[in-house]
Amino acid sequence: AAIGKGNFRHFMEKELHEHPAVIGDTLHRMVSPATRAVGLPEDLGIDFANISRITMSACGSAFYAGLVGRWWFEAVARIPADGDVASEFRYRAPPLPRDGLGLLVSQSGETADTLAALRYMREQGQRVLSIVNVAESSMARESDAVLETVAGPEIGVASTKAFTAQLSVLACLALAAARARKAISAAQEARMTAALLEVPGRAAEVLEKDEAIQAIAHRVAKARDVLFLGRGNCFPIAMEGALKLKEISYIHAEGYAAGEMKHGPIALIDPAVPVIAIAPSGPLFEKTASNLQEAAARGGQVIVFSDEAGAAKLKGIAAETVVLPAVDPFVAPILYAIPVQVLAYHVAVLKGTDVDQPRNLAKSVTVE
Ligand code: AGP
Repeated sequence: AAIGKGNFRHFMEKELHEHPAVIGDTLHRMVSPATRAVGLPEDLGIDFANISRITMSACGSAFYAGLVGRWWFEAVARIPADGDVASEFRYRAPPLPRDGLGLLVSQSGETADTLAALRYMREQGQRVLSIVNVAESSMARESDAVLETVAGPEIGVASTKAFTAQLSVLACLALAAARARKAISAAQEARMTAALLEVPGRAAEVLEKDEAIQAIAHRVAKARDVLFLGRGNCFPIAMEGALKLKEISYIHAEGYAAGEMKHGPIALIDPAVPVIAIAPSGPLFEKTASNLQEAAARGGQVIVFSDEAGAAKLKGIAAETVVLPAVDPFVAPILYAIPVQVLAYHVAVLKGTDVDQPRNLAKSVTVE
């Protein structure tokens, strides 16, 4: 049956509203209802205790999901992890280690460069795991193991719900790996799993911030350049925000690690450049705050996405603030992906672009 837009103006708007359900459905595939512990399917056949390294490759938003995954694998599971966009990876042809795991992330499972990266990983003797949204895709077929995102069909060219579903799978995978490697205690695991299971509810609360985000969209729609800043596991969310804004509103945007600003991008800052901060409370908050201070001191319009505690601390420098629910820093990237996508959506609507079918883009890039 054809998929409709329901009461939504665009598929993208409909798909943004599916975040809570999709995250919930994806998590429930991997979390046992009885024990509330993350479990991987028995037949996955990956022994995380003995994996020497994870090599991740993907394109676009899927790559940014993979970068958050890389962060989790290193910080939570203590597995060496690396990652590169597939178009570079396949020609860089890096030597891959014994007992390594190759990890591909893709909504369609058909992206040509990612598929080539997969084949290269196999040649290099890696066990290959794909995270895909299409179970019968080429990547699924050619992998040793597959984990599915339960996002349902995604019609909008700009990826939304598939991205948070990918993050949800990666978070579960990192937790399972951490347990296998004894990298976290039972108490830490319980705390992080509980935080993960809270995300669908918090995601629904984020969607209620629509009006506040729309107000910010008016400001952003007037800009020629926009800077997104984040740190740690939210740095990839800054890149996701910038990519989404570029692809559907055609406004130039960059996602930067907040600490890199002073090494160049700060020269761009003037009152015409919105600086959008992905700044959840957590171990790196104070560092991000001082980077934002530097931007504000140069006249940048600082737009803050944070929780109540973070927003209070940034009150003096923020031109605008969206207060999001407080969450465990472990899961912040999943939650903070939503408002940056919603922002891009509203800016595109204000600009009158073709939101679901932006110019020059295809949903699935099956040629090199
Ligand atoms: C995201 O909004 C993009 N349209 C694009 O970057 C996409 O994520 C990329 O082309 C990868 O596609 P895939 O997930 O189907 O492999």
